[in-house]
This record gives sequence, structure tokens and C-alpha cells, in this order.
Amino acid sequence: MLSNYLKGLIERAKKNYKTIVLPEGEDERILQAAHIITEAKAVKVIILGDESEIKDYYTKNGWSLDGISIIKPENSPKLEEYTNLLYELRKEKGLTLEDAKKLALNYNYFGTLMIKAGDADGMLSGANHSTADTVRPALQIIKSTHKDRSVSTAVLLVKDDQAYVFSDCAIIIDPTEKELCDMALAAGETALKFGIEPNVALLSYSTRGSGKGEGVDKVRRATEMAKEALKLPEYAGKGIKIDGEMQADAALDAVVAKKKAPDSEVAGKARVLIFPDLEAANIGYKLLQRICGCEAYGPLMQGLNAPVNDLSRGALVEDIVGMIALTAIQADSSVN
Ligand SMILES: CC(C)(COP(=O)(O)OP(=O)(O)OC[C@H]1O[C@@H](n2cnc3c(N)ncnc32)[C@H](O)[C@@H]1OP(=O)(O)O)[C@@H](O)C(=O)NCCC(=O)NCCS
Repeated sequence: MLSNYLKGLIERAKKNYKTIVLPEGEDERILQAAHIITEAKAVKVIILGDESEIKDYYTKNGWSLDGISIIKPENSPKLEEYTNLLYELRKEKGLTLEDAKKLALNYNYFGTLMIKAGDADGMLSGANHSTADTVRPALQIIKSTHKDRSVSTAVLLVKDDQAYVFSDCAIIIDPTEKELCDMALAAGETALKFGIEPNVALLSYSTRGSGKGEGVDKVRRATEMAKEALKLPEYAGKGIKIDGEMQADAALDAVVAKKKAPDSEVAGKARVLIFPDLEAANIGYKLLQRICGCEAYGPLMQGLNAPVNDLSRGALVEDIVGMIALTAIQADSSVN
């Protein structure tokens, strides 16, 4: 049963009909999700895997393969082009042509190279791969939109059709203040992309100096850096607001906000929550998902030149459908 939020995402994805590559064609959940999103005519899907096995699966279920391409990287006429592309991009990092030939056959690398070559707009993997294996090719090949800014991830948490952005739930284990600042800015942009108010709170166990500690100081300095960065022309007119350090109750509850941070533009109205480290963020979103029944979509990478996203290995078919739609929306550069 698809939620209203998920249906809304699929409708939005339909408007731009992007091409998304799914490298895990061996997984039935991927094949089912590809079928649902293709039937909705929301995304052009490319599945990497064994053509005859995938065709058999679709035939057995009585599903059409119209709108779906299947590529077995080993047999692809583009393999040599992608290998050379990888070699050229990474030779200065010590990659040999022999290594590039092996790596291009790794389906996550192959899918990422398809994006770099302009043959796909985004990629979704991770149903059977670790986060590191899914995101490493993207970090090496697609790269950060700004050379000096780190890539991070966001999870969209949805309850009663109200969506929040949580960051960073998957990549940066113990962020520096600069990484927290980059994360806050990127998460503000992610919120804009998905129609969420870009009110960004950098969370802590302290609000406005109520608690002491190195972690609190780090979050406060990161907030100052991010507020300063908001003065850059690239953020003009976007409406991103950033504040911190603050506790989660001050960030989300208007009554508490009035007491703890009455002068804040963000407190009580935060929709984007930046956690001080990966442990807090990852544990936090999974608790809300399991105890409170929030829908969780992500991790979505933010700050990359093209979207490559990571599935949780426990992802259900509906989650994968949502993630394909989100990846397609991220790929649409006409959306903020
Ligand atoms: C993401 C991760 C895999 C990258 O680590 P890694 O594979 O060791 O990668 P490296 O440090 O060798 O970096 C590879 C490239 O990515 C770049 N990179 C790594 N992290 C980056 C980031 N956050 N932003 C931008 N670029 C980054 C590096 O600069 C490097 O680029 P280069 O090779 O062109 O110089 C690592 O941070 C990680 O394992 N994070 C935790 C993942 C996890 O377990 N999550 C929990 C599950 S949800």
C-alpha cells in the first residue's frame, strides 16, 4: 500500500522522466520496484544483470518490459568506453588500466560510470551492498559539486505526510565543524528539492550554551560558519535559515523554543535536523522509524554532481519505489 507521500513523489518524478540505473538486478525486490515505477511511467529504468533471468522473472509474473532496459556489463558494447573513462579519471590516483578493467565490471562502478558518461541520470544501489561499496564509486567518479565541500547524506522522515530531513545518517562518522557546516548547507538544499521548509537546526544536548562540552562548542562553531556561508550569492533568495546549537525539543516544539531560544528564526520550526555525528543521526532515524512508524527514505547523497543513492539492506519494495522516485527528482536540475 503506497502512502500519499510516496504517491506524490511518483507524480513529481513523472514530470521529468529521468533515467535511473539499478545495478542489483539479481534482487527480486529491485525487479518488483522497477516494475511498479515503470508501470507508473515515472522513470526510465535500466537494470544491470542477467538478461535472460530478468526476462524470465518478468514473463513469469506477466509483466511487460516496456520502458525497462537490461544491461549485462560483461557483454556491454560500452564496457571499453567506461573502462577508459575510469582509467582517465583515476590514473593520477594510481589506478592502472588493468585495475580499471576489473573495476568497471563491478556493477556499482559500471552504473556510476553510466552517469558520468551521460547514459543515466542517477543510480540506486545498496539492497545487497554496504553503504561504503555503494557510495565510494560516486565519491571517486561523480565527485562533490564544490571541490572544498564534503558530500553527506540525508534521510527523509515522514509522519502524517509531514516530511523532515535528517543528516548525516550514513557517511561522515565523526564530522569536523567544517563538515557539519557543509552538511547543514547541503541539507537545506535537499529540503528545497523536496518542497520542505529549509529551516535547519544543528542539534546538540545544549541550547544556546545551556550545556558545556567540546561537542557543544563544535556545533556552535559549525553553526556560525554555516550562517556566514549563507551570505554567499549562491544562497541568495533561497530562504535557507540555519541556527544552533539547540536541543531537539527546542528545534521542533514552539512552546519550548519560546523559552529556550526566543530570538531564533529556526527554533520551534525546524524541518531539517543536523546531528552532531553519524551515531546520533543513524540511531535517531531508525528509532523514529521503528517506534513511531515514520516512513524513512534514504540515505540520499547530497552535495554530489549527480544523484547516487544507497538503500538499506532491509529495504521493502515500497521503500525502493520511493527511493527510485526521489533519485529521479534529485536528478532534475530544474528543481531548485
Ligand atoms: C564513505 C566512505 C566509504 C568513504 O571512505 P573510503 O572508501 O575509505 O574512501 P576514501 O577515504 O578512500 O575516499 C575515496 C574518495 O572519496 C572522497 N571522499 C571520501 N569521503 C568524502 C566525503 N564525505 N565528501 C567528499 N568526498 C569524499 C575522498 O576524498 C577520495 O577522493 P579521491 O580518491 O578522489 O582523492 C567512508 O567514509 C565510510 O565508510 N563511511 C561510513 C559508512 C558507513 O558505514 N555508514 C553506516 C551505514 S548507514
